[in-house]
Amino acid sequence: MREDFPLLKEVVYLDNAATSQMPKHLAEELGELYKRKANVARGIYKLAEERTLEVEETREKVAKHIEAESSEIIFTKNSTEGSNLIMRSLFEEVKRGDKIVVSVLEHHSNFLPWWYLAQKRGAKLEVVGLEEGNLAMGELERKAKGAKIVACTAASNVLGIEPPVEEICKIAREEGAVSIIDCAQYAPFRKFSVKKWGCDFAFFSAHKMCGPFGVGVVYGARERLEKGTPFLYGSGMVVNISKEAEWAEVPSKFESGTPAIQEIIIFKKCLEYLERIGWEKIEESCRALGEYTHKRVSEVAEVVSIPSHITTFNVEGVHPHDVAAILDSEKVCVRSGHHCALPIHQYLGVDSTVRASVYFYNSKEDIDKLAEGIEKVKKIFKAF
Ligand code: ALA
Repeated sequence: MREDFPLLKEVVYLDNAATSQMPKHLAEELGELYKRKANVARGIYKLAEERTLEVEETREKVAKHIEAESSEIIFTKNSTEGSNLIMRSLFEEVKRGDKIVVSVLEHHSNFLPWWYLAQKRGAKLEVVGLEEGNLAMGELERKAKGAKIVACTAASNVLGIEPPVEEICKIAREEGAVSIIDCAQYAPFRKFSVKKWGCDFAFFSAHKMCGPFGVGVVYGARERLEKGTPFLYGSGMVVNISKEAEWAEVPSKFESGTPAIQEIIIFKKCLEYLERIGWEKIEESCRALGEYTHKRVSEVAEVVSIPSHITTFNVEGVHPHDVAAILDSEKVCVRSGHHCALPIHQYLGVDSTVRASVYFYNSKEDIDKLAEGIEKVKKIFKAF
Protein backbone atom coordinates (compact mmCIF):
# COMPACT_ATOMS: atom_id res chain seq x y z
CA MET A 1 0.00 0.00 0.00
CA ARG A 2 3.05 2.30 0.10
CA GLU A 3 2.36 2.88 -3.60
CA ASP A 4 -0.74 4.83 -2.53
CA PHE A 5 1.48 7.42 -0.82
CA PRO A 6 3.98 8.91 -3.32
CA LEU A 7 5.66 11.09 -0.69
CA LEU A 8 7.08 7.93 0.91
CA LYS A 9 9.37 7.56 -2.12
CA GLU A 10 10.87 10.99 -1.40
CA VAL A 11 11.21 11.08 2.38
CA VAL A 12 10.95 8.98 5.52
CA TYR A 13 7.76 10.46 6.90
CA LEU A 14 7.57 10.07 10.67
CA ASP A 15 5.36 12.97 11.69
CA ASN A 16 2.05 11.16 11.52
CA ALA A 17 0.90 12.44 14.90
CA ALA A 18 0.90 15.93 13.35
CA THR A 19 -0.80 14.81 10.13
CA SER A 20 -0.94 11.60 8.12
CA GLN A 21 -0.63 11.22 4.35
CA MET A 22 -3.63 10.84 2.06
CA PRO A 23 -3.94 8.01 -0.49
CA LYS A 24 -3.13 9.40 -3.92
CA HIS A 25 -6.41 8.37 -5.58
CA LEU A 26 -8.44 10.15 -2.89
CA ALA A 27 -6.34 13.32 -3.19
CA GLU A 28 -7.10 13.22 -6.93
CA GLU A 29 -10.77 12.56 -6.32
CA LEU A 30 -10.86 15.61 -4.04
CA GLY A 31 -9.47 17.70 -6.90
CA GLU A 32 -12.16 16.33 -9.22
CA LEU A 33 -14.91 17.27 -6.78
CA TYR A 34 -13.69 20.87 -6.89
CA LYS A 35 -14.56 20.96 -10.58
CA ARG A 36 -18.27 20.51 -9.70
CA LYS A 37 -18.93 22.57 -6.59
CA ALA A 38 -22.29 23.12 -4.95
CA ASN A 39 -23.25 24.25 -1.48
CA VAL A 40 -25.18 22.01 0.90
CA ALA A 41 -28.42 22.21 2.89
CA ARG A 42 -29.85 25.08 0.84
CA GLY A 43 -30.10 24.55 -2.96
CA ILE A 44 -32.92 22.40 -4.33
CA TYR A 45 -31.25 21.66 -7.68
CA LYS A 46 -29.89 18.17 -8.29
CA LEU A 47 -26.17 18.83 -7.75
CA ALA A 48 -26.78 20.67 -4.45
CA GLU A 49 -29.05 17.87 -3.27
CA GLU A 50 -26.50 15.23 -4.24
CA ARG A 51 -23.77 17.00 -2.29
CA THR A 52 -26.06 17.39 0.74
CA LEU A 53 -26.78 13.69 0.63
CA GLU A 54 -23.09 12.81 0.36
CA VAL A 55 -22.20 14.97 3.37
CA GLU A 56 -24.96 13.24 5.33
CA GLU A 57 -23.59 9.86 4.23
CA THR A 58 -20.24 10.78 5.80
CA ARG A 59 -22.06 11.78 8.98
CA GLU A 60 -23.71 8.36 9.09
CA LYS A 61 -20.42 6.61 8.40
CA VAL A 62 -18.64 8.51 11.20
CA ALA A 63 -21.55 7.82 13.58
CA LYS A 64 -21.33 4.08 12.89
CA HIS A 65 -17.55 4.20 13.28
CA ILE A 66 -17.82 5.43 16.89
CA GLU A 67 -21.23 3.91 17.72
CA ALA A 68 -23.21 7.14 17.91
CA GLU A 69 -26.38 8.48 16.26
CA SER A 70 -25.79 10.61 13.18
CA SER A 71 -27.57 13.56 14.85
CA GLU A 72 -24.82 13.43 17.48
CA ILE A 73 -22.06 14.10 14.93
CA ILE A 74 -21.01 17.70 14.25
CA PHE A 75 -18.49 18.62 11.58
CA THR A 76 -15.95 21.26 12.55
CA LYS A 77 -12.74 22.53 11.01
CA ASN A 78 -10.43 20.44 13.22
CA SER A 79 -10.01 19.06 16.75
CA THR A 80 -9.24 22.50 18.17
CA GLU A 81 -12.44 23.97 16.81
CA GLY A 82 -14.16 20.89 18.22
CA SER A 83 -12.94 21.37 21.78
CA ASN A 84 -13.73 25.09 21.58
CA LEU A 85 -17.24 24.30 20.36
CA ILE A 86 -17.73 22.00 23.35
CA MET A 87 -16.33 24.62 25.74
CA ARG A 88 -18.64 27.32 24.31
CA SER A 89 -21.65 25.02 24.51
CA LEU A 90 -20.97 24.58 28.26
CA PHE A 91 -19.94 28.19 28.95
CA GLU A 92 -23.21 29.31 30.57
CA GLU A 93 -23.43 26.20 32.75
CA VAL A 94 -20.14 26.83 34.53
CA LYS A 95 -20.41 29.05 37.60
CA ARG A 96 -17.99 30.71 40.03
CA GLY A 97 -16.33 28.11 42.24
CA ASP A 98 -17.07 25.15 39.92
CA LYS A 99 -14.30 22.66 39.34
CA ILE A 100 -12.88 21.67 35.96
CA VAL A 101 -10.54 18.67 35.86
CA VAL A 102 -8.01 18.03 33.09
CA SER A 103 -4.93 15.82 32.84
CA VAL A 104 -1.33 16.96 32.54
CA LEU A 105 -1.16 14.90 29.31
CA GLU A 106 -3.48 17.21 27.36
CA HIS A 107 -2.22 18.97 24.29
CA HIS A 108 -3.23 22.62 24.11
CA SER A 109 -6.49 21.96 22.28
CA ASN A 110 -7.86 20.10 25.29
CA PHE A 111 -6.15 22.26 27.88
CA LEU A 112 -6.47 25.91 26.87
CA PRO A 113 -10.26 25.92 26.30
CA TRP A 114 -10.73 24.63 29.88
CA TRP A 115 -8.12 27.01 31.26
CA TYR A 116 -9.93 29.88 29.50
CA LEU A 117 -13.35 28.73 30.71
CA ALA A 118 -12.07 28.51 34.29
CA GLN A 119 -10.57 32.03 34.03
CA LYS A 120 -13.67 33.61 32.53
CA ARG A 121 -16.23 31.94 34.80
CA GLY A 122 -14.26 32.01 38.04
CA ALA A 123 -13.99 28.21 38.14
CA LYS A 124 -11.05 26.22 39.51
CA LEU A 125 -8.85 24.26 37.10
CA GLU A 126 -7.44 21.04 38.58
CA VAL A 127 -4.65 19.21 36.74
CA VAL A 128 -4.14 15.49 37.32
CA GLY A 129 -0.57 14.14 37.16
CA LEU A 130 0.94 10.75 36.35
CA GLU A 131 1.63 7.64 38.36
CA GLU A 132 3.31 4.39 37.31
CA GLY A 133 3.36 5.27 33.64
CA ASN A 134 -0.27 6.32 33.36
CA LEU A 135 -2.70 8.87 34.69
CA ALA A 136 -2.84 9.00 38.50
CA MET A 137 -6.34 7.60 38.86
CA GLY A 138 -6.53 8.06 42.64
CA GLU A 139 -5.71 11.74 42.17
CA LEU A 140 -8.26 11.99 39.38
CA GLU A 141 -10.94 10.44 41.56
CA ARG A 142 -10.14 12.88 44.38
CA LYS A 143 -10.03 15.93 42.13
CA ALA A 144 -13.19 14.90 40.27
CA LYS A 145 -15.25 15.06 43.50
CA GLY A 146 -17.98 17.61 42.85
CA ALA A 147 -16.46 18.59 39.48
CA LYS A 148 -18.49 20.13 36.68
CA ILE A 149 -16.26 18.99 33.82
CA VAL A 150 -13.66 16.23 33.35
CA ALA A 151 -11.63 16.51 30.14
CA CYS A 152 -9.01 13.93 29.21
CA THR A 153 -7.14 12.60 26.21
CA ALA A 154 -7.55 9.01 25.03
CA ALA A 155 -3.91 9.00 23.88
CA SER A 156 -1.09 11.41 24.70
CA ASN A 157 0.64 13.05 21.72
CA VAL A 158 3.93 13.17 23.65
CA LEU A 159 4.16 10.04 25.79
CA GLY A 160 1.81 7.68 23.92
CA ILE A 161 0.04 6.91 27.20
CA GLU A 162 -3.59 5.83 26.86
CA PRO A 163 -5.53 6.69 30.02
CA PRO A 164 -8.42 4.35 30.99
CA VAL A 165 -11.18 6.32 29.29
CA GLU A 166 -14.11 4.15 30.36
CA GLU A 167 -13.12 4.43 34.02
CA ILE A 168 -12.60 8.20 33.72
CA CYS A 169 -16.06 8.64 32.19
CA LYS A 170 -17.57 6.50 34.96
CA ILE A 171 -15.94 8.67 37.63
CA ALA A 172 -17.22 11.81 35.88
CA ARG A 173 -20.72 10.37 35.53
CA GLU A 174 -20.89 9.43 39.23
CA GLU A 175 -20.02 13.04 40.08
CA GLY A 176 -22.56 14.41 37.61
CA ALA A 177 -19.68 15.98 35.64
CA VAL A 178 -19.58 16.36 31.86
CA SER A 179 -16.90 14.10 30.33
CA ILE A 180 -14.92 15.18 27.27
CA ILE A 181 -12.49 12.85 25.51
CA ASP A 182 -9.84 14.08 23.06
CA CYS A 183 -9.50 11.31 20.46
CA ALA A 184 -7.15 13.10 18.05
CA GLN A 185 -4.30 10.62 18.66
CA TYR A 186 -6.59 7.65 19.31
CA ALA A 187 -9.04 7.64 16.41
CA PRO A 188 -6.42 7.04 13.66
CA PHE A 189 -5.80 3.51 14.98
CA ARG A 190 -9.14 1.92 15.77
CA LYS A 191 -12.90 1.91 15.79
CA PHE A 192 -14.26 2.81 19.19
CA SER A 193 -17.56 3.19 20.97
CA VAL A 194 -18.54 6.43 22.66
CA LYS A 195 -21.57 4.58 24.01
CA LYS A 196 -19.37 1.98 25.71
CA TRP A 197 -17.18 4.74 27.13
CA GLY A 198 -20.25 6.64 28.27
CA CYS A 199 -18.66 10.01 27.47
CA ASP A 200 -20.66 13.18 26.90
CA PHE A 201 -18.36 14.57 24.22
CA ALA A 202 -15.48 13.36 22.07
CA PHE A 203 -13.56 14.99 19.23
CA PHE A 204 -10.96 14.19 16.56
CA SER A 205 -9.62 15.29 13.15
CA ALA A 206 -9.86 13.67 9.72
CA HIS A 207 -6.39 14.76 8.62
CA LYS A 208 -4.70 12.39 11.08
CA MET A 209 -6.72 9.50 9.58
CA CYS A 210 -5.48 9.73 5.96
CA GLY A 211 -8.11 12.39 5.42
CA PRO A 212 -8.06 15.95 4.11
CA PHE A 213 -7.47 19.10 6.17
CA GLY A 214 -10.44 21.16 7.30
CA VAL A 215 -12.61 18.40 8.76
CA GLY A 216 -13.00 17.76 12.46
CA VAL A 217 -15.59 15.66 14.25
CA VAL A 218 -17.37 16.38 17.51
CA TYR A 219 -19.50 13.70 19.10
CA GLY A 220 -21.98 15.08 21.62
CA ALA A 221 -24.57 13.01 23.49
CA ARG A 222 -27.89 14.21 22.07
CA GLU A 223 -29.27 15.63 25.31
CA ARG A 224 -26.04 17.58 25.82
CA LEU A 225 -26.19 19.06 22.33
CA GLU A 226 -29.85 19.97 22.75
CA LYS A 227 -29.09 21.74 26.03
CA GLY A 228 -25.83 23.38 24.88
CA THR A 229 -25.36 26.97 23.73
CA PRO A 230 -24.56 27.32 20.00
CA PHE A 231 -20.97 28.08 19.06
CA LEU A 232 -21.21 29.89 15.71
CA TYR A 233 -24.13 32.20 14.93
CA GLY A 234 -25.23 32.53 11.30
CA SER A 235 -26.71 30.62 8.39
CA GLY A 236 -28.20 27.20 8.86
CA MET A 237 -28.46 27.14 12.65
CA VAL A 238 -31.74 28.98 13.17
CA VAL A 239 -35.36 28.29 12.16
CA ASN A 240 -37.05 31.42 13.45
CA ILE A 241 -35.93 34.85 14.57
CA SER A 242 -38.26 37.20 16.39
CA LYS A 243 -37.64 38.48 19.90
CA GLU A 244 -36.22 35.07 20.74
CA ALA A 245 -34.35 32.92 18.24
CA GLU A 246 -35.39 29.33 17.70
CA TRP A 247 -32.34 27.21 16.99
CA ALA A 248 -32.34 24.48 14.38
CA GLU A 249 -32.36 20.85 15.48
CA VAL A 250 -29.00 19.27 16.32
CA PRO A 251 -26.54 18.89 14.66
CA SER A 252 -27.45 21.93 12.45
CA LYS A 253 -27.61 24.13 15.56
CA PHE A 254 -23.83 23.74 15.81
CA GLU A 255 -22.94 23.84 12.12
CA SER A 256 -23.40 27.39 10.96
CA GLY A 257 -21.88 28.46 7.65
CA THR A 258 -20.61 26.50 4.66
CA PRO A 259 -18.61 23.45 5.78
CA ALA A 260 -15.63 21.83 4.01
CA ILE A 261 -18.06 19.98 1.74
CA GLN A 262 -15.72 18.18 -0.65
CA GLU A 263 -13.36 17.26 2.19
CA ILE A 264 -16.18 15.83 4.29
CA ILE A 265 -17.31 13.75 1.31
CA ILE A 266 -13.77 12.45 0.77
CA PHE A 267 -13.41 11.68 4.48
CA LYS A 268 -16.04 8.93 4.09
CA LYS A 269 -13.88 7.37 1.37
CA CYS A 270 -10.84 7.62 3.64
CA LEU A 271 -12.69 5.70 6.33
CA GLU A 272 -13.66 3.08 3.74
CA TYR A 273 -10.01 2.87 2.64
CA LEU A 274 -8.90 2.31 6.25
CA GLU A 275 -11.64 -0.28 6.68
CA ARG A 276 -10.42 -2.15 3.62
CA ILE A 277 -6.93 -2.33 5.14
CA GLY A 278 -8.59 -3.46 8.37
CA TRP A 279 -8.66 -1.62 11.71
CA GLU A 280 -7.16 -4.59 13.55
CA LYS A 281 -4.29 -4.70 11.08
CA ILE A 282 -3.72 -0.95 11.43
CA GLU A 283 -3.70 -1.09 15.21
CA GLU A 284 -1.49 -4.17 15.36
CA SER A 285 1.04 -3.01 12.76
CA CYS A 286 1.38 0.43 14.40
CA ARG A 287 1.78 -1.18 17.82
CA ALA A 288 4.50 -3.52 16.54
CA LEU A 289 6.32 -0.78 14.61
CA GLY A 290 5.99 1.55 17.61
CA GLU A 291 7.68 -1.09 19.78
CA TYR A 292 10.44 -1.49 17.23
CA THR A 293 10.93 2.29 17.09
CA HIS A 294 11.08 2.50 20.88
CA LYS A 295 13.73 -0.24 20.96
CA ARG A 296 15.86 1.18 18.11
CA VAL A 297 15.73 4.78 19.33
CA SER A 298 16.44 3.72 22.93
CA GLU A 299 19.74 2.28 21.67
CA VAL A 300 20.87 5.72 20.47
CA ALA A 301 18.91 8.34 22.47
CA GLU A 302 16.96 9.02 25.67
CA VAL A 303 13.36 7.97 25.07
CA VAL A 304 10.67 9.45 27.34
CA SER A 305 7.54 7.94 25.76
CA ILE A 306 6.15 4.45 26.33
CA PRO A 307 6.22 1.93 23.44
CA SER A 308 3.39 3.18 21.21
CA HIS A 309 2.88 4.85 17.81
CA ILE A 310 4.78 7.78 19.33
CA THR A 311 8.49 7.77 20.20
CA THR A 312 9.55 10.96 21.95
CA PHE A 313 13.21 11.40 22.76
CA ASN A 314 16.16 13.65 23.32
CA VAL A 315 19.80 13.38 22.33
CA GLU A 316 21.83 14.52 25.32
CA GLY A 317 23.49 17.87 24.76
CA VAL A 318 21.77 18.54 21.43
CA HIS A 319 18.78 20.83 21.01
CA PRO A 320 15.72 19.01 19.58
CA HIS A 321 15.53 21.50 16.68
CA ASP A 322 19.14 20.64 15.75
CA VAL A 323 18.27 16.94 15.89
CA ALA A 324 15.24 17.49 13.64
CA ALA A 325 17.22 19.72 11.22
CA ILE A 326 19.94 17.10 10.77
CA LEU A 327 17.34 14.34 10.39
CA ASP A 328 15.69 16.51 7.74
CA SER A 329 19.00 16.68 5.85
CA GLU A 330 18.81 12.86 5.84
CA LYS A 331 15.24 13.15 4.50
CA VAL A 332 13.70 11.99 7.78
CA CYS A 333 10.70 14.09 8.86
CA VAL A 334 10.10 14.29 12.63
CA ARG A 335 8.61 16.96 14.88
CA SER A 336 10.64 18.86 17.47
CA GLY A 337 9.59 21.37 20.12
CA HIS A 338 6.86 21.03 22.73
CA HIS A 339 4.32 19.46 20.35
CA CYS A 340 1.60 21.89 21.53
CA ALA A 341 1.77 20.19 24.91
CA LEU A 342 3.60 22.52 27.29
CA PRO A 343 2.03 21.14 30.51
CA ILE A 344 3.54 17.66 30.07
CA HIS A 345 6.92 19.11 29.08
CA GLN A 346 6.93 21.27 32.22
CA TYR A 347 5.89 18.21 34.24
CA LEU A 348 8.81 16.23 32.78
CA GLY A 349 11.14 19.18 33.40
CA VAL A 350 12.19 19.57 29.75
CA ASP A 351 11.68 22.47 27.33
CA SER A 352 11.33 20.41 24.22
CA THR A 353 11.73 16.97 22.70
CA VAL A 354 11.95 15.21 19.32
CA ARG A 355 9.03 13.05 18.26
CA ALA A 356 8.85 10.29 15.65
CA SER A 357 5.35 8.98 15.05
CA VAL A 358 4.39 6.06 12.81
CA TYR A 359 1.35 5.06 10.80
CA PHE A 360 0.49 1.81 9.05
CA TYR A 361 2.41 2.70 5.86
CA ASN A 362 5.75 3.07 7.67
CA SER A 363 8.29 0.27 7.64
CA LYS A 364 11.16 -1.05 9.77
CA GLU A 365 13.51 0.40 7.13
CA ASP A 366 12.08 3.86 7.90
CA ILE A 367 12.93 3.35 11.56
CA ASP A 368 16.43 2.11 10.74
CA LYS A 369 17.00 5.31 8.74
CA LEU A 370 15.78 7.31 11.74
CA ALA A 371 18.26 5.51 14.03
CA GLU A 372 21.09 6.04 11.52
CA GLY A 373 20.14 9.73 11.34
CA ILE A 374 20.34 10.03 15.13
CA GLU A 375 23.81 8.44 15.01
CA LYS A 376 24.79 11.13 12.52
CA VAL A 377 23.46 13.85 14.86
CA LYS A 378 25.61 12.44 17.65
CA LYS A 379 28.67 12.34 15.42
CA ILE A 380 28.21 15.97 14.33
CA PHE A 381 27.67 17.17 17.90
CA LYS A 382 30.15 14.70 19.35
CA ALA A 383 27.43 13.62 21.77
CA PHE A 384 27.92 10.07 23.07
N1 ALA B 1 -1.32 18.07 16.15
C1 ALA B 1 -0.33 18.34 17.10
C2 ALA B 1 0.70 17.27 17.17
O1 ALA B 1 1.58 17.26 16.37
C3 ALA B 1 -0.85 18.71 18.40
O2 ALA B 1 0.68 16.43 18.04
